[in-house]
Amino acid sequence: MCGIIGYAGPREPVGIVLEALSRLEYRGYDSSGVAFFGKEGKISVVRASGKLSRLAESVQGMTGSPGTAIGHIRWATHGAPTEENAHPHRSGPIVLVHNGIIENERTLRRELVGQGYSFSSETDTEVLAHLIHRAYREEGDLARAVRKGLSGVEGSYALAVVCEESPGELVAVRKGAPLILGEGEGEFFVASDVPAFLKWTRRVMPLPPEVVATLSSKGVSLCRLSDGLGLPAVFEEVPWDPVQAEKGQYRHFMEKEIFEGPRAIMDTLEGRLGEENSRVFLPELVRLGPNPTEIVFVACGTSYHAALLGRLMIESLSPVPVRVEIASEFRYRPLRFRRGAWVIGISQSGETADTLGALEVARKEGYLTVAITNVGGSSITREAEATLLTRAGPEIGVASTKAFIAQVALVWLLALYLGRRESPDVRDSLAALVRSPARMEGFLGAVDRDLIDRLSRQILAARFAIFIGRGIDYPLAIEGALKLKEITYRPADGYPGGELKHGPIALVEPGVLIVAPLVDTRLRPKEISNIREIEARGGTVITIGPPGSGAEDPVPTFILPVSSEWDGVFYASAVLQLLAYRAASIAGNDVDQPRNLAKSVTVE
Ligand code: AGP
Repeated sequence: MCGIIGYAGPREPVGIVLEALSRLEYRGYDSSGVAFFGKEGKISVVRASGKLSRLAESVQGMTGSPGTAIGHIRWATHGAPTEENAHPHRSGPIVLVHNGIIENERTLRRELVGQGYSFSSETDTEVLAHLIHRAYREEGDLARAVRKGLSGVEGSYALAVVCEESPGELVAVRKGAPLILGEGEGEFFVASDVPAFLKWTRRVMPLPPEVVATLSSKGVSLCRLSDGLGLPAVFEEVPWDPVQAEKGQYRHFMEKEIFEGPRAIMDTLEGRLGEENSRVFLPELVRLGPNPTEIVFVACGTSYHAALLGRLMIESLSPVPVRVEIASEFRYRPLRFRRGAWVIGISQSGETADTLGALEVARKEGYLTVAITNVGGSSITREAEATLLTRAGPEIGVASTKAFIAQVALVWLLALYLGRRESPDVRDSLAALVRSPARMEGFLGAVDRDLIDRLSRQILAARFAIFIGRGIDYPLAIEGALKLKEITYRPADGYPGGELKHGPIALVEPGVLIVAPLVDTRLRPKEISNIREIEARGGTVITIGPPGSGAEDPVPTFILPVSSEWDGVFYASAVLQLLAYRAASIAGNDVDQPRNLAKSVTVE
């Protein structure tokens, strides 16, 4: 998820673009750039890796001519967060910024290289610049060149494009990724989100998908991407303040990020499923050689829970044995893994000291190391031989939600990558993964928030909560317990259901609440037995799962859609996240910045 801004108007544009980008830093902050017209009518492009302040230093003292300018703040999905990969990207007179992921960029890149275009970056965005440049040479008009240049592009994009030969006009278009138009006093804006220009105008218009907008100080004209048919521009007043605008209609970033889960899956899958979603491509792993003899996941906290789910997925879909280790324990013990093992560190931030330390030890012992992280260019990407990026976008809430969902999607992809393509299980599982973003979106769109509220109050009223689960439900149970305790500060713990009788069941008495996810269909009968044992001792049970299969299998407290087991993980995770979120909100806690915790634990 990146942030783009475009300006068309009579004021000096560089300062406006920088300020607008600062309002979009929550969308990404690993590199940034600006393009503006200088006095002699030439376009200047200034880019910088790292925080936005680095770009501000680079453009210090520079001023652009009134007219148009574009800017970009990046969250790396293709190519490392370097200055070469930062936007804007240029081809001849065409300069553009892009948010989204182009699925067929490899094919298009080969075609352009064959026609003599040379590339200076690893990004899919540069492909778009050359495509529009090629079309501009035929069309001579920027809007028509954008329409023609994009005709063969597959994937998602939000674009702002300027052309040195047509100063004063800016063309914008989107498909999949968001773009909002803003109408000020004799000036116009286009941005990924309203906060970018809210300081200057509250009159906004979401740009409809596959509609091309041409902005200039004279106004905005719209036409259809497909055939150029003109459309009306209708602006409306929004009542938001800038900070609230970053959260949209949500009270906290955590709530917003829970509902961004489906998008996080979709973006993590994009470009990795090949034609007709028929197989998994993880080109980042090719350099490691043959498949691993064993996988050892190392991680902390929520990422550790994602790794536990990864083990179940990989061992059920492929012949590769998997271990899962707490990073802080792993790094101080002898490593006795098979030669040819891959040690995979999972870390949302890519900066967790224990996980970094674990990978360093593994590398020194001669094992191949892989990073699964949400932050391109983070320390873990430099520690590991190969990196697989989740694409959840910046996660602001300390409690990990959409990043966990994206991690589960990525380890699921890894399981399919290691599995045998011709296996029916692999084919069925791949189909379920492909369907999951839309199904999760539908589930969240209709989720019963009143029931969440009631159950959250029940959790808060309990003396403490015990989360239990078997198989797939065990990582869900301990993740649910972690979510609850880290933002409500209430005692909660998670156990394998089979462990109850080995001690924890002594805790059960009236007033103790048990939360039991029931996604694992194979072990569900045994989980129901655990629930009976608990109820017989006066415990209260909340179950979360698809409808039961009969008298012995009661209707769950929170009913999930019927699913293939693995996408049930997404629904159950969202419910557990919402239960913790709602309980913490009722408790009046600082949900996005809970006490004693940091978003990234960079110390041991
Ligand atoms: C998750 O909600 C917590 N904030 C915490 O357990 C976190 O998952 C853990 O610190 C690991 O962080 P990482 O994924 O950035 O390595």
